[in-house]
Amino acid sequence: MPRALHLAARPAGTPKDSDFETRERAAAPLEDGQFRVAVKFLSIDPAMRVWMSEAKSYWPPVPLGDVMRAQGIGEITESKNPKFPVGQWVSAMTGVQDEYVGDGKGAHVFDAKRLPHPGWALSVFGATGMTAYFGLTDIGQAKAGEVLVVSAAAGAVGSSAVQIGKALGMKTVVGIAGGPDKCKFITDTLGADAAIDYKNDDVGKALKEHCPDGIDVYFDNVGGDILDEVLKRLRLKARIVLCGGISQYNAEGATRGPANYLSMISSRARMEGFVIIDYMHRAEEAIAAMAPWAAAGKLKGKLDVVDGLDNFPAALRRVYSGANFGKQLVKLT
Ligand SMILES: NC(=O)c1ccc[n+]([C@@H]2O[C@H](COP(=O)([O-])OP(=O)(O)OC[C@H]3O[C@@H](n4cnc5c(N)ncnc54)[C@H](OP(=O)(O)O)[C@@H]3O)[C@@H](O)[C@H]2O)c1
Repeated sequence: MPRALHLAARPAGTPKDSDFETRERAAAPLEDGQFRVAVKFLSIDPAMRVWMSEAKSYWPPVPLGDVMRAQGIGEITESKNPKFPVGQWVSAMTGVQDEYVGDGKGAHVFDAKRLPHPGWALSVFGATGMTAYFGLTDIGQAKAGEVLVVSAAAGAVGSSAVQIGKALGMKTVVGIAGGPDKCKFITDTLGADAAIDYKNDDVGKALKEHCPDGIDVYFDNVGGDILDEVLKRLRLKARIVLCGGISQYNAEGATRGPANYLSMISSRARMEGFVIIDYMHRAEEAIAAMAPWAAAGKLKGKLDVVDGLDNFPAALRRVYSGANFGKQLVKLT
């Protein structure tokens, strides 16, 4: 019988196992236009914590009792929709469940054999890679010769942002992450010019050392203290790409805003938020740019896979503690 994880409670702080409830249901027969998917991998996204809360966001909160929202990929096992034939891999908002029935809305078929791993459809060539691509090019207006700083740089979005920055010919690309292993990965594997370990280094001092003339583009995944340090070192006409603020997602009180924002006046800087769903109609444009970089070894992906639907809450907690190393996925069997 298909199993699903339902939202049982709105979390206080970091999500707990008891915020979810596993339920089984009988598989319903398909209607015309529908197809059934055996879900193979689920994407873990830091924004899930926001979707679980009552906070106003780009999507409504997941209603209590509903299947937890998630993007997933899997193989079509039964179909009454000719555009979604049996055997095809598909990406959709499947929810946290091992079986998904769709009608094609918001679903995309893809050729898993052409990818290094099917999980690339949820990472490098999926939402996180596209977030990095459009965040840097469209919001950040990143140009060759400029200085780029990326936070959460060993993660899914951040690792793509670092590599895309280098592929675009940016002069200096600095990644910020927690711990020496992630920092080594950022320089040695992703090709950044420098990495800053925010858990052990003085971020302000290190930014001054690696970006002596200031920062043109800051790709912000975390907010908090790191954003404040970057704000002290903006170049004229700098752009801050407001992608995420993971340091604030589990805050139980008010979200902390940037203290040093007045520096944006003198540096004539711009800070702009964006949500990748607004760019999905341009997905082919991003793939056309990124596929040659991947083929040339300039765009690599790292996956971090946790097994089993029941481990979804634990997998979700990994992205807030920094235990994940690469794009966090849950594999369903
Ligand atoms: N705007 C959009 O459309 C969009 C789309 C996708 C993702 N995002 C955002 O992009 C960011 C990264 O998402 P992702 O999926 O790529 O996750 P990820 O980077 O693969 O994983 C999250 C990482 O955040 C870091 N982190 C956690 N707490 C932190 C803290 N307090 N301070 C600094 N770093 C912290 C951890 O790395 P360390 O070990 O380095 O601490 C962790 O590995 C998130 O903020 C997410 O919400 C936005």
